[in-house]
Amino acid sequence: MVHFFKIIDRGTNAEGKEQIEVIWVDADEKDQVEDVQICVVMVGLPARGKSLIARKIVNYLKWLSINAKSFNVGTYRRTETPKPGAEFFDTNNTEGERLRRAAAEAAVTDMLQWFSTGGHVGVLDATNSTKSRRKWIKEQCEARGCQVLFVESKCEDDEIIDKNIRSVKVNSPDYKGSDPEEAVRDFMNRIRNYERVYQTIDDDEEKDLTYVKLVDVGTQVVINNIENYLQTRVIYFTMNLHITPRSIWLSRHGESMFNVSGQIGGDADLSPRGMMYAEKLPDLVSKIVPEGTKLKLWTSTMKRTIQTAQFLPYEKKEWKALDELDAGVCDGLTYPQIEAKYPADFKSRDDDKYNYRYRGGESYRDVVIRLEPIIMEMEREDNIMIVTHQAVLRCIYAYFMNIPQHRSPWMAIPLHTVIKLTPGAYGTEMEMFNAGIPAVSTYREKYGSAEMGESEGAASADLSMLADTAKTSQEPDSVPTGPAPVEKLEKAAAKAAAKLGAVGESVGELAHKLEQEIETIEDKVREQKEVIEEAVLKRRRSLEVRGKKDTDGDTLLME
Ligand code: SIN
Repeated sequence: MVHFFKIIDRGTNAEGKEQIEVIWVDADEKDQVEDVQICVVMVGLPARGKSLIARKIVNYLKWLSINAKSFNVGTYRRTETPKPGAEFFDTNNTEGERLRRAAAEAAVTDMLQWFSTGGHVGVLDATNSTKSRRKWIKEQCEARGCQVLFVESKCEDDEIIDKNIRSVKVNSPDYKGSDPEEAVRDFMNRIRNYERVYQTIDDDEEKDLTYVKLVDVGTQVVINNIENYLQTRVIYFTMNLHITPRSIWLSRHGESMFNVSGQIGGDADLSPRGMMYAEKLPDLVSKIVPEGTKLKLWTSTMKRTIQTAQFLPYEKKEWKALDELDAGVCDGLTYPQIEAKYPADFKSRDDDKYNYRYRGGESYRDVVIRLEPIIMEMEREDNIMIVTHQAVLRCIYAYFMNIPQHRSPWMAIPLHTVIKLTPGAYGTEMEMFNAGIPAVSTYREKYGSAEMGESEGAASADLSMLADTAKTSQEPDSVPTGPAPVEKLEKAAAKAAAKLGAVGESVGELAHKLEQEIETIEDKVREQKEVIEEAVLKRRRSLEVRGKKDTDGDTLLME
């Protein structure tokens, strides 16, 4: 079940501005979203945080189980022109103009194709800086029955622009390997070229468009002509975003007495080692949080997170929404006890951990829903540290790192470790800082033994498992990718087969490993399918004759 805004009344106020009245509704995602397709079109000069906003919208919607995907025009342009100088973006450069238009058309074509396979929210990430470009995109989308929502990021604050330029210099594939100072100079010249032709969305001439204008990082927000609850939801989210660089620090509570006894849930105190972590935390945090950083500290309402955060010298807030996943009738039991008492439930949870709801308790899906206001608040805030619980951290981490639902409940979040996340236009950077205080392992593998307990190497095993998750989650959403990974598939299959023949492994372990291999293969197949679809589209476009109509009677996009 997902929750939506639903517009129940709309009209105009005394000044003639549009007014809407909304309510929250519980809705089956399929009923509410199935018939709506929205193209979110980013608008704005370079270094205004568009790619970050685009990525965030997609992650947020996917996290809420809404099918969303980003189409970055720069990525399409890079297939022909990987590292252009600023002169490429000069509108007097006819070859540059042709290639840039072709890239935009290719991205729009792919996006429309993706809508026809059931996509709900496609984000077109580009400058889209002229009225004529916006008109063209609107026509293309509406001809295919997609609504269009323009999101313009305007920013005149030199400090913010400068920070964004510096971040692009470090992270943009356009400047990989370039001299940093030269990259900054070139990027500023590129911006100047765009400034010559840039037209902000015109509140009069373009009043028929549906748009939100975010001025100076949300200091002022202009909303025009919104049409439905999904648009409202995207707009509300963007209003809470800010594009200034910042970090988020996450930690589980220190080891608790329940962790030591292997019980789940409850409201236990910290163990002696958990208390050592709490005492060490101020020193660890002072080393990893830059001096002078203003930090807000959030905990759950449970004793173990409050005790963990007690020595940290920051403004603190307790949130009920950060409490651990409610284990219902299983609260206070150990995994072996749950397996003995509720064997069918124990298996069902392993089969689909994201959706399994403890009797009288919660599922991961439920936790995501209750965390939504927390995510919204985190987006509004600057630097935050959160001390909370394993399941809750998995959901928060999945949001920032774009981890799919079938993986997120199985991530190992190590005890006695601070995780630092730094969101950026090209992905979220993750760093981990282990306090070096031993703790039990609370991680149980899918279909693994119900027994857990003391493990010397627990923290480092959990750390490397989490680091692996971060590596695999950062690929951009829609890009014309390289050759099909058939060899990789074959290798993975051979590896799985070899493992089947391995001696000394229990059937449970073997089944679990095989399952992991299958998941990897499934991911690769999904990737390969996308590559093939893109290749077919490219081929089709290259075969089409300029200006002719395709088989559906639509004007071809490549001219
Ligand atoms: C790019 O080529 O990097 C972006 C094209 C655009 O959005 O104008």
